Amino acid sequence: MELKMRINHFPTTVAAANAVADRIAERLKATPNVVLGLATGATMEPVYERLVALHRAGEISFAGVTSFNLDEYVGLPPEDPRSYRATMDSQLFDLVDIDKSRTFVPDGLAADPAAFASRYEAMIREAGGIDLQLLGIGRNGHIGFNEPGADFAARTRVVDLEESTLEANSAFFDGALPPTQAMTMGIGTILESREIIVLATGATKRDAVRTALLGAVTPDCPATVLRRHANVSWWLDAESGADVA
Ligand code: F6R
Repeated sequence: MELKMRINHFPTTVAAANAVADRIAERLKATPNVVLGLATGATMEPVYERLVALHRAGEISFAGVTSFNLDEYVGLPPEDPRSYRATMDSQLFDLVDIDKSRTFVPDGLAADPAAFASRYEAMIREAGGIDLQLLGIGRNGHIGFNEPGADFAARTRVVDLEESTLEANSAFFDGALPPTQAMTMGIGTILESREIIVLATGATKRDAVRTALLGAVTPDCPATVLRRHANVSWWLDAESGADVA
């Protein structure tokens, strides 16, 4: 098995998430004005929890950070607690010393989504590009909300979510289905990040991780494209990493 990407294995979910948080914390200490690309979802919750704890312990400051989130549901206002803006605020931004005017999340209510999306791309460029992009992975291999079939060159845009994604994320909507569309950074946008960290935990991610690392590079599993990036590391727990150990 030839793998160019670095794979870090951990016995538990918490150990994997803590290690990712510690890696981000190191980066913050070395580069206080780092530009972060951030993800939401259940996988990231323990990462943000630890980053908040490190901040409260006086170890890290977010004062110089600029951040860009990967995605947002179309149709959810930022005040809706299920929106990714509200999620980021409650899990991280409101709990640390980040300047919230430099935290950016796609606008799910944009009247002209295409115009907003190109502004979002321009803002990333103007910030100097993303230094460190944090990614989760969907059960179907999506990254951001770039579902199977997504063009590897795609930029920020509105996409339709797959049935399996709606079902997986219904946990955050009291069992009801989430909005069926999202605005997401494209794969082309994601690949321009200078460094990418992928955190995948739990048995539900095992197949996606195996395909992403060992399968043919194909839009059928968007995460396979990460094999074309020079600086990607994977952070896995025992369950997600069982087939790539
Ligand atoms: C979220 C995102 C998605 C999630 C993925 C995994 O901003 O871009 O790609 O990372 O759907 O979600 P969880 O962590 O809930 O399993």
